[in-house]
Amino acid sequence: MSNTIVIFGASGDLTSRKLIPALYSLYLKKRLPGDIRIVGCSRSPFTHDQWRSELEVSTSNFTSKFAKDSFREFASSIFYQKVDVGDQEDFKSLFRFLDEVEPDNNPTRIYYLSTAPRFFAPAIENLGIAHRELSVSGREPELRGNLLRRIVIEKPFGTDLESAHLLNEKIHQVFDESQVYRIDHYLGKETVQNMMVLRFANSIFEPLWNRNYIDNVQIVCSESVDVGRRGGYYDSSGVLRDMFQNHLLQLLMITAMECPARFNASLVRDEKVKVLQAIKPFSSEEVRTETYRAQYDGYLDSDGVPAGSKTATFAAIKLKIENWRWNGVPFYLSSGKALAKRSTQIVIQFHDPPTLLFTDGPKEHWDNNRLIIQIQPDEGIRMRFTTKVPDAGMELRTTDLDFKFAEEFTESMPDSYQRLLLDAIKGDASLFARSDEVEFAWKIIDPIIKSWQQTQNPKLYRYHPGVAIPESCDQWMHFQKKAWCRE
Ligand SMILES: NC(=O)c1ccc[n+]([C@@H]2O[C@H](COP(=O)([O-])OP(=O)(O)OC[C@H]3O[C@@H](n4cnc5c(N)ncnc54)[C@H](OP(=O)(O)O)[C@@H]3O)[C@@H](O)[C@H]2O)c1
Repeated sequence: MSNTIVIFGASGDLTSRKLIPALYSLYLKKRLPGDIRIVGCSRSPFTHDQWRSELEVSTSNFTSKFAKDSFREFASSIFYQKVDVGDQEDFKSLFRFLDEVEPDNNPTRIYYLSTAPRFFAPAIENLGIAHRELSVSGREPELRGNLLRRIVIEKPFGTDLESAHLLNEKIHQVFDESQVYRIDHYLGKETVQNMMVLRFANSIFEPLWNRNYIDNVQIVCSESVDVGRRGGYYDSSGVLRDMFQNHLLQLLMITAMECPARFNASLVRDEKVKVLQAIKPFSSEEVRTETYRAQYDGYLDSDGVPAGSKTATFAAIKLKIENWRWNGVPFYLSSGKALAKRSTQIVIQFHDPPTLLFTDGPKEHWDNNRLIIQIQPDEGIRMRFTTKVPDAGMELRTTDLDFKFAEEFTESMPDSYQRLLLDAIKGDASLFARSDEVEFAWKIIDPIIKSWQQTQNPKLYRYHPGVAIPESCDQWMHFQKKAWCRE
């Protein structure tokens, strides 16, 4: 099968740091279909060779395996076309160029929007117009519903429910939902996919995976970096839009979903959406009690951050999934910047044993059974349980069964974009967000953002850069008679 990937935003950071290195790595592993072209589009004036040379340098910096000869072989299928996505004439030139480089057998074409979000709508609209004109003259098949024409859209997908809905409407004027691939790169991570395998390809976990055995679930994404020079962008976004609406809710859906009847895009996404539908959006009183927010000291001095900004750089929220499996089990989501270490994990905290039979030694075994899925770094799975200390009466201690991907597999973990790009090429949308999924996620996050802005409740706490978790957030958890997992 013949394929063309058209990247809008070709001269940008994502293309050079992630997309081209991922495609090159797939090429080295011989996973790319033989007949493939990559056409980069942006406003900067490059010749094909100039762009190839730029990519050669960036790819050598951003891939672990790089060889000049193989890159040049790969790069012979890379082209550049100057396109302003707001200019219809440029699309005409682009399609003339595609006509020149594509074979006549109606190849699969993937349009990848790797531009700032404000260009998504004009790019889609102009693609629609260009396709319509060409299909009238018989040079292009009809666009809508044509599964050989797909569109990949980068995050962020809207800034609230209304803008996400408008963007979905705009997309659906041109593309059918089955042609749309909304990227959340967390879903491309091996450990996230492994979560589904852990649950649905083993028989020992699923019987325990419910309110009868689980006390609480913690989904935590800590970043050690601060906002750096992205202060201006970050301030208009904040931690809820940056991490919760997309990545953390995706992890929650995969943790809480029912097993789909088959592993295909529509059934997997149906089950994920049902999880979000079972979460009631917060009232403003619930926002006050069930959410926590903080800002790190020094944030206000970052470039681009307005004086007195109340933007949260750390947040924690407690969600309830009101269905038979999860009723009564709190899901704690937390994320923040400028913390002690970079780590993303899902912690399944099981109930205490019903009685404490062995009373020697410290009481730490009360919170003993815990499953930790480490998404990044040091990807792996850890199961914690209680054992006897040898030669110490009935003194107990906790022990780990510890599986690390790096110890079991010699190859380094592939970057998420490899899997996602390959799936988009193959036409498998299982790991991409569907329009209803995105809108349901906004329905949960929107009321929190609005209430934070309008009522200034709960209070915005402060924390020192470099702490594992803000102390006041520990207290917030303590108040709920729970504790954050610190492993
Ligand atoms: N960078 C990342 O690590 C990362 C991670 C996750 C998601 N994303 C998302 O990916 C997208 C791209 O991010 P980025 O960091 O690559 O942004 P960027 O470095 O600012 O690049 C933006 C690209 O858009 C092009 N562009 C701007 N105006 C254009 C126009 N009118 N017509 C055609 N092209 C235009 C720019 O090239 P010219 O100026 O030459 O036109 C440039 O190639 C964003 O939606 C971002 O949120 C990025």
